Amino acid sequence: MEKKHVGFTGTLGFVLSAAGSAVGVGNIWRFPYLAAQDGGGVFLLVYLILVLTFGFTLLTTDIAIGRRTQKNAINAFGTIHPRWKFLGKLTFLVPAIIMTYYTVIGGWVFKYIAVYLSNQGAAAAQDGYFTSFITAPVAPMVFMLVFLTLTSVIVYFGVDKGIERFSKIVMPGLLFLIVGVTVYTLSLKHTAADGTVRTGLQGLKVYLVPDFTGMTVGRFLRILLDAMSQLFFSLSVSMGIMITYGSYVDKNVNLSKSIRNIELFDTGVALLAGAMIVPAVYIFSGTEGMKSGPSLMFVSLPKVFEAMGSMGRGIAIAFFLMLGFAALTSSVSIMETLVASCMAVFHTTRKKMCMVIGLISAGAAAVICMGYNVFYFEWMLPNGSQAQLLDVMDYISNSFLMPLISFLTCVFVGWVIKPRWICEEMEASGHSFSRSRLYAFMIRYAAPVIMAVLFLQSTGLGKWL
Ligand code: PHE
Repeated sequence: MEKKHVGFTGTLGFVLSAAGSAVGVGNIWRFPYLAAQDGGGVFLLVYLILVLTFGFTLLTTDIAIGRRTQKNAINAFGTIHPRWKFLGKLTFLVPAIIMTYYTVIGGWVFKYIAVYLSNQGAAAAQDGYFTSFITAPVAPMVFMLVFLTLTSVIVYFGVDKGIERFSKIVMPGLLFLIVGVTVYTLSLKHTAADGTVRTGLQGLKVYLVPDFTGMTVGRFLRILLDAMSQLFFSLSVSMGIMITYGSYVDKNVNLSKSIRNIELFDTGVALLAGAMIVPAVYIFSGTEGMKSGPSLMFVSLPKVFEAMGSMGRGIAIAFFLMLGFAALTSSVSIMETLVASCMAVFHTTRKKMCMVIGLISAGAAAVICMGYNVFYFEWMLPNGSQAQLLDVMDYISNSFLMPLISFLTCVFVGWVIKPRWICEEMEASGHSFSRSRLYAFMIRYAAPVIMAVLFLQSTGLGKWL
């Protein structure tokens, strides 16, 4: 019996689902604070150049491997070359690790939607509110479970009826919300207690104008590496997700054009998020408000919403809804990769795998939640930052495994199977692959070198060389 092809119904469904995976909490909180911290326009410029070169190369590689082999990462590499089967297994580890903590963060976002819906914004703006929430024994688990259940239900319905249908509703909605909130924050004006008046447009200048003060070669390198690791995380590359989504794409879809649209969507949302958050925080707290990490989203922004007055609550609901949508479509892509890989390995049904992986994820995420109470510790990571359990998982997946996998993938494609293998797939639909020369150069030379540097830098190994 011939198996029915499982997949997206067309180009739009594919682009919106892949963009759904790419656009996540990374775009909305990580990108803006990196931009604010790394010299505004300098970071933006570096990031844009990297998207068009490295981002494009890695995304093309993943999607083309998926479509050409029609397999998940776990089997794709082995199918192409038996000696590289290990790379598939290594790649599978990334979504498996990310799944443990992404649903915890998703739960935090859901909690804040509930906070603003039930009109508790004033309490959330108090110091210590966020910490007392995440250290509580039960509440973070409950919100995590709600988030995980929704993720599982969408994956349970399958690629076209679940993921694609959900992405087609949510992604345009997300765009609409982000444009609306950005226009609103840019039109704001606030007089601080000391009488200084700050406007949204001044904030936009802080964000867009390159700030070269104190720029040294070392600082520029730091910005480059920040932008590079942000790019990986943001495009969901080198973790098997885009290989899985690529395997669901029909042979007659123009991959070049689809990839361009995914890049555009992901970068557009990140740029807009920056244009919304940097000025908003600047207006109400000046440049000191741009904290890094989750505290920007869950500590600084609630204060900003409170200071906005009567409009604050509506804007906060729109903001956290948007973040919730973004997080949900990303978490769906992580779970889909796990479910689809396990279905292939264990030859079993989607239904069964959704249940099993849902349960395992719930257990693992519960342990991560306890990282803020029962299992609390403070570790120093090799890259110098303080970490709790969640950060350790984030570090292993994003700072350790992802650059390593990217490096190996570049060596594999660039030198073992050769770039032509990918270019052929890009042209398989009869459309031309205009960036093929750039692709070949990037995958053979530029990308492996930079990935190796990134790996050495983020693991702290570079210091010993
Ligand atoms: N790309 C998503 C973001 O920017 C994060 C993500 C990571 C999604 C890993 C899927 C897998 O937030």
